[in-house]
Amino acid sequence: MKTLTITRPDDFHLHVRNGAILKTVLPHTARQFARAMIMPNLKPPVITVTQALVYREEILQAIPDGVNFTPLMALYLTTATTIDDIQQAAQCEHIYAFKLYPAGATTNSDAGVADVTKIYPLFAALEKYDLPLLIHGEVTDENCDIFDREHVFIERHLIDIVKNFPCLRIVFEHVTTKEAVQFVESTSNKIAATITPQHLLFNRNVILAGGIKPHYYCLPILKREIHRKALVKAAISGNSKFFLGTDSAPHYTHLKENSCGCAGCYSAFGALELYIDAFESENALDKLEGFASFYGSDFYGLSRNVETIMLEKIDWQIPASYDDLIPLKAGEVLHWKMI
Ligand code: NCD
Ligand code: ZN
Repeated sequence: MKTLTITRPDDFHLHVRNGAILKTVLPHTARQFARAMIMPNLKPPVITVTQALVYREEILQAIPDGVNFTPLMALYLTTATTIDDIQQAAQCEHIYAFKLYPAGATTNSDAGVADVTKIYPLFAALEKYDLPLLIHGEVTDENCDIFDREHVFIERHLIDIVKNFPCLRIVFEHVTTKEAVQFVESTSNKIAATITPQHLLFNRNVILAGGIKPHYYCLPILKREIHRKALVKAAISGNSKFFLGTDSAPHYTHLKENSCGCAGCYSAFGALELYIDAFESENALDKLEGFASFYGSDFYGLSRNVETIMLEKIDWQIPASYDDLIPLKAGEVLHWKMI
């Protein structure tokens, strides 16, 4: 029996929602990962420390008995956020970051920021308190082609943000293009990026060729093969600027299979195994542990996990559906399984 043992990983970009869906999805992440950065795009969004602490309690209630899992809370940045809010967050041991959603960029981003330059004083406060800024890096300009929105965001906004706030720690979330990889590689060590399993495994054909497949639709949208290759190269490079963030984003089946379907892939069911398949197909299993278990916690200044987990090389099938959610790669075979 072939096995692989690695330090327990962390997921630095995760949507667990609230209410019933939270109870369904959280156990999948909690089984595999020690910690996860919880995205705040609920309805209404998690804007204040008080809201985050209430949400954190709800998450703790959903962790199965006997499982050790720590939610790391992030707050949603809005034009109504104040310097005082940031100071309070910096003093709260459960808040680890602020998330910037350009208004209208993705699921529940209406409360996001329309003009990024308007919140430069907030970036200055984040820099001062050394709280990381997590960025959904896409422009929302209707005239900008959806496949160009990420690299245009770099040109229009990110370059200036980095120039103006050289000490601000930034995570360029769920990067999807070769331009984003190049940008992260070529800027200071204050800038890092998360990469999702779907962007390592698939290009845009999977959504559109041979029939439209809504369960592969997420934002930023899957790109051409050349971009997938650049992401894979970054993930397996051993460069500590790139680390694991699944962006698992569950939506009920009827909301995905809809004339205006929601964006988001539910990858938490077998998340680690999806990444392992991506690394193994590049003969890079030895690079998995750094990407999954070390670089993210190092970037956030957290201690590395000490516990280990074991995976076995065995074929298994992801279920066709799970509690009215369709997991990523539903019905397909993965080649490793966490024991
Ligand atoms: C996320 C969601 O559904 O909350 N959707 C997605 O396609 N990734 C939001 C996000 O991270 O963009
Ligand atoms: Zn997300």
